[in-house]
Amino acid sequence: MTNPAYDLVIRGGRVATASDVFDADVGILGEKIAAIGSPLTPGKREIDARGKLVLPGGIDSHCHIEQLSAAGIMNADTFESATASAAFGGTTTVISFAAQHVGMNLTQVVEEYHALARKGAMIDYAFHMIVADPTRETLENDLPALVKQGHSSIKIFMTYERLKVDDEPLLDILLTARQSGALLCAHAENHGIISWMVKRLLKAGYADPKYHAISHARISEAEAFNRLIGMAALIDQPIMIFHVSTAEGARVIREARGQGLKVFAETCPQYLFLTADDLDKPGLEGAKWMCSPPPRRAADQEALWQALALGDLQTVSSDHAPYRFDDTGKLRAGRAPNFKQIANGLPGLETRLPLLFDAMISKGRLGLEKFVELTATAPAKIYNLHPRKGSIAVGADADIAIWDPAREVTLSDAMMHDRTGYTPFGGFKLRGWPVTVLSRGRIIVSDGKRSVEPGSGRFLARSGGEAARPTGRLAADVDPEQNFGASLL
Ligand code: URP
Ligand code: ZN
Ligand code: ZN
Repeated sequence: MTNPAYDLVIRGGRVATASDVFDADVGILGEKIAAIGSPLTPGKREIDARGKLVLPGGIDSHCHIEQLSAAGIMNADTFESATASAAFGGTTTVISFAAQHVGMNLTQVVEEYHALARKGAMIDYAFHMIVADPTRETLENDLPALVKQGHSSIKIFMTYERLKVDDEPLLDILLTARQSGALLCAHAENHGIISWMVKRLLKAGYADPKYHAISHARISEAEAFNRLIGMAALIDQPIMIFHVSTAEGARVIREARGQGLKVFAETCPQYLFLTADDLDKPGLEGAKWMCSPPPRRAADQEALWQALALGDLQTVSSDHAPYRFDDTGKLRAGRAPNFKQIANGLPGLETRLPLLFDAMISKGRLGLEKFVELTATAPAKIYNLHPRKGSIAVGADADIAIWDPAREVTLSDAMMHDRTGYTPFGGFKLRGWPVTVLSRGRIIVSDGKRSVEPGSGRFLARSGGEAARPTGRLAADVDPEQNFGASLL
């Protein structure tokens, strides 16, 4: 008898990519997909996938793991708990953050996050570098070197007191991103509007969690998007706008893309499935639903679905930002905090894909290929992990989630594997669940059991790639009064 050609064959499933859905076996050799066909010869091991969907493992390109918040609060999750919970939800790659605070050396920050991930991560990972202190040392020495080492995306905040960068330093960061070939990602909200609203609300005695949503006035999003897009266009630097929450915000992005500007954007499940009403609960309970930007209205949910359908928004990430509902997290300022004293953020690594699967496949919104595109293929392409990650293709890493489309699950706090202690999506009744999950050919989750060790995830070095490449069309060049533009860069 000849040796089996494959270590593992996933047999008889329905395979989906961002462009096709077809019945096939998937043969895995070592860490890679070695063949897709029907029928494949037997493998050393086999998984019976009849009646199941065989999809690329999810890529969650925006999640906060083991990160210190602006207010000095540590996330509830370690790399171990966060990546375990990601795996149970069908996600096989995370891009989290190496977060600089003012006064910190960025190279050292990145090293520290690497050490944490090396110890705990169970799935593959990469980092966006948060720049909060754009000193000359950071911009001229650290950033370019770190981009070369495979950290080809930078994140900035336009709000949050101790993290925000103002317009002028933001232009410096955009220019550094351009010169080093990195994508610039942004949390874009108008800081002045939010802080003005907060002061007036608190002065008038409006302190409950629901006023958090009101303090982030809708216009604070569209205004910041416009300003950021304008600055990026001035020097022709591609950008990714994180967590779009409003119809007006989506419209600004659509217009920018229509003008040929390289603007990418994402939204998150909290903006597709929750509304500001979720924050309106007795006592402090609404704090569990507090994130920034806040969930908005049902009409915004529809506008965001439309923007996903049209391609104005290209990915759906979790923005997993877990804080426990106790004195280590949301209630760190005591038992009677005002909304400004409560940490912003929700857990979501584990629920992102099941929520989207239920909406897009079980309930039929946008369908299977679009689900794969938004959750795996598009983030892989934008963040330059493709073709290694993000699809089911010969030669790709065997990162695969096998979904039972008939399994019905009601989400609950108790079934989550992260350390937050609650899910904002508790009580959601979903159809479709990832029953077996593979990372680089290893079965890491099967029938609710984990079979992978902390520290077995790998760092994914990324270079800038197509998304981060300037268009070559400077705003300053097309404006005749500013035709000195290029010489300023
Ligand atoms: O509320 C959120 N999203 N917290 C996490 C940090 C951020 O704004 O992305
Ligand atoms: Zn943010
Ligand atoms: Zn975030």
